Amino acid sequence: MTASRLEVRNLTRSFGGIVAVDSLSFDAGGGITGLIGPNGAGKTTVFNLITGIYRPSVGTILLDGTELIVKRPHEVVRAGVSRTFQNIRLFNRMTCLENVMTPLLTQGVYGPVSAFLRTSSVRAEEKIARDRAFSIMEDVGVADVSDRQASTLPYGLQRKLEIARALACAPRLLLLDEPAAGMNDAETRELGESIVKVQKDFDVTIILIEHHINLVMDICGHIVVMERGALLAKGSPSEIRSDGRVVAAYLGRPRERKKRLGADEGTGR
Ligand SMILES: Nc1ncnc2c1ncn2[C@@H]1O[C@H](COP(=O)(O)OP(=O)(O)OP(=O)(O)O)[C@@H](O)[C@H]1O
Ligand SMILES: [Mg+2]
Repeated sequence: MTASRLEVRNLTRSFGGIVAVDSLSFDAGGGITGLIGPNGAGKTTVFNLITGIYRPSVGTILLDGTELIVKRPHEVVRAGVSRTFQNIRLFNRMTCLENVMTPLLTQGVYGPVSAFLRTSSVRAEEKIARDRAFSIMEDVGVADVSDRQASTLPYGLQRKLEIARALACAPRLLLLDEPAAGMNDAETRELGESIVKVQKDFDVTIILIEHHINLVMDICGHIVVMERGALLAKGSPSEIRSDGRVVAAYLGRPRERKKRLGADEGTGR
């Protein structure tokens, strides 16, 4: 299967007087696309529009030619879109394995009665889900902690576990909202390697929202920059790095720069 293509056209969404996303158009496909911009630029709102949490006021979102904006959130998942959240949302009381198994079991074909009776077909389905979940966790690097309760994991592993759970929905498009938030340099680099591996192994198109700009520059083939809801620039990492408007609006801001690059700058990368 060739990687999926997302086409966002003229996407617009207001909240009261705020235009959170303003006539935004961009494409993503065949790799990892970075979506960056200052706080409040509208990045998470773009994910909420793609995943059907919000309806746009104007615009279209096509995944391999299929319109997503008419779909409800669960239908968007079924159409092949999974995400992680800026604020981690795991099933905290479940084990890590159960977190990743849950989406696999809800795709199952057995009704509540057979599930209650735990018929042999249900048990067989559970075994398939367990094996599949474990294999995904191995790919993402969280298989070692499969039996631990999710809430007891260190922050970096919770973020990875969320990616594993998103992959259990078998997405064609994976949306990652600040997966490296709160991570140090070493953790961020390791996460970057995992994301690159996931993109290849699962042949999934990825859109990555991140403020760790070195991570974005390292692993994204293409970058989209937003400012105040609108498109500020798009291009390759080197084009974006040397774009005067992007430097003025985001990359070069002293306060933002300190906040985002502070840890990275000491590494000489
Ligand atoms: N449900 C909502 N109701 C009202 N305003 C909202 C809502 N969701 C987003 N906004 C506003 O839309 C704008 C864009 O917010 P959004 O969360 O998309 O930004 P962001 O680029 O993800 O920022 P950050 O980098 O801080 O996560 C902000 O002004 C925000 O306050
Ligand atoms: Mg956000």
